[in-house]
Amino acid sequence: MSSPDDAARRAGAILSIDLGAIAANWRGLRDAGRATGRPVDCAAVLKADAYGCGATIVGPRLAAEGCRQFFVAHIDEGIALRAVLPELPIYVLNGLLPGTEPDFVEHGLTPVLNHLGQLNAWRAAAQRYNRPLDAVVHIDTGMHRLGFGAEDAQVLINERGRLRGLRLALIISHLVASEEPANPVNGEQLSRFRTFVRAMPGAPTSFANSSGIFLGPDYHFDLLRPGAALYGINPLPGQSNPMLGVVALQVRILQTRRIDAFQTVGYGGAWRSARPSRVATIALGYADGYFRSLINRTHVHLAGHTVPVIGRISMDLVTVDVSDVPEELCQPGMTVEALGPHLTPDDLAEHGRTNAYEVMTALGRRYHRAYIDSFADAAPESPGQAPTGDAA
Ligand SMILES: Cc1ncc(COP(=O)(O)O)c(C=O)c1O
Repeated sequence: MSSPDDAARRAGAILSIDLGAIAANWRGLRDAGRATGRPVDCAAVLKADAYGCGATIVGPRLAAEGCRQFFVAHIDEGIALRAVLPELPIYVLNGLLPGTEPDFVEHGLTPVLNHLGQLNAWRAAAQRYNRPLDAVVHIDTGMHRLGFGAEDAQVLINERGRLRGLRLALIISHLVASEEPANPVNGEQLSRFRTFVRAMPGAPTSFANSSGIFLGPDYHFDLLRPGAALYGINPLPGQSNPMLGVVALQVRILQTRRIDAFQTVGYGGAWRSARPSRVATIALGYADGYFRSLINRTHVHLAGHTVPVIGRISMDLVTVDVSDVPEELCQPGMTVEALGPHLTPDDLAEHGRTNAYEVMTALGRRYHRAYIDSFADAAPESPGQAPTGDAA
């Protein structure tokens, strides 16, 4: 029998995920919602396997923390989550695919209805099952992606009977550019959402994703809906990150070698040494979500040294220039930090010309995942204390 320790010993890379930091981030966001004294609640978005952190592990941890409502994108994500969260509402953002009504009912999942067709199908299901079914209605206030468009929304306002047989658990909308506080589209969407919810009084409302929470209390409504910030992604691009870091990636050195000056390294000879150099090859590649766009543009950390990534990213291998690292600190089997306190997912995203959401959701399935809880032994926080970015 192989133990988790064996798996960690054999792993090319170990991704540690700090559940305590995720819980602290959730508490900080919830408290931000409550700062004005209104009873704003905070859900958790666990789609894409909780942004790579493991939905079936993060979900119960947040439920233990007091989180009472969860969002996923796909039905199957909801079914997997239902197995570990038997009681709490799970909303499926991608909505009701034709013919999936029995799956929703069997697993007690709530569809986010995105247009009248879905509403009609869900109502028909409620009639067939002869009981009220929960529904979320998504209003498109400007994203033009999913949700009731203006015409469908007006039909709903004019004909409330269309909801008969359903229990409206939530009305939601999603912001286009919440990470840009000065973008006028935020206010425009807010005003459209307000107009709709005023015309449909009674149902709880949810508007703000992670960055939206930081747009202020006007954007909070009844339920906050953060994903990214829970996992340590900076909701305030260009400013210091108010969230705690969640992931760290330690990657093993497979081999080191000396090369002369003017030698190339890797496919296509995309990097050439300017001096006699020492190269370490580490167990990481684009098959692990380490993007090819990082070519010659990022670094890893080793024993206090910033170590440049050199040459093309291969499927399973990355080469780094360890010329300035003492040899005894850079030996096969030792590890380098590819993500963590020195290089966050936001930093890596900038180097790879993408965003931290893509970095997180691409985190490799081959990584050995180790769950830690850095706050397990800590004294309880005082109420209202927001997380700080200092402890990563
Ligand atoms: C409808 C909806 N709500 C909430 C979220 C969470 O957003 P964020 O990860 O920016 O907090 C998402 C994510 O894309 C979403 O699609």
